[in-house]
Amino acid sequence: METVRNSYKRLIEGNKLYSQSKQFSDPEYFKKLSLGQKPEYLWIGCSDSRVPANEVTGTHSGEIFVHRNIANVVVHTDLNLMSVVEYAVNVLGVHHVIVCGHYGCGGVRAAMGNSSYGIVDKWLRNIKDVYFKHRVELDQIADLDKRADRLTDLNVIEQVKNLAKTKIIQKAWFEKKHVEIHGWVYGLNNGLITELNVMHMENEDIEEIYRYDFTKEF
Ligand code: CO
Repeated sequence: METVRNSYKRLIEGNKLYSQSKQFSDPEYFKKLSLGQKPEYLWIGCSDSRVPANEVTGTHSGEIFVHRNIANVVVHTDLNLMSVVEYAVNVLGVHHVIVCGHYGCGGVRAAMGNSSYGIVDKWLRNIKDVYFKHRVELDQIADLDKRADRLTDLNVIEQVKNLAKTKIIQKAWFEKKHVEIHGWVYGLNNGLITELNVMHMENEDIEEIYRYDFTKEF
């Protein structure tokens, strides 16, 4: 019987089967992957265990560069995410950056309430700020699940905008690199992704106050 003490061993066994099956269908599989990566997409998603980027998009190793955090938040002082974005855009040359939220997100739900959970409170403050910005619309939704769903949409939209505001993305557009930023929401109940109408792909998509003028850079 599996106990907590050795439940991790299932993963090691699973890994052996994975390695064997990949090499069975293509003996060169790992040799080819080890040559390097050239992913077309950067995925910024929630850490939730039910939203694995490759699995829900039917893609494989080597296709998506991934960053995940609680409730898929883009903070421009987050050294971790900014390093990922800079590397993805400037070195890997991804053409599509996807911010993918998901309905039933515990982070979004926690941000709607008044409980204190610890360090994560500071992280969720970013989502409370999204709520406050859209409070007139959100407060009119009486059903809390529906309100959380709408906040999930709005959070993704805000994070797409936050990405576009970064110097990394603006500089890429200034240099005529083709980088599209997409906002998606994944449904835990049906496994389907909804594309939100928020795609950003040029400096004109950003509010003027946030735009950098690179001709005046010093
Ligand atoms: Co989540």
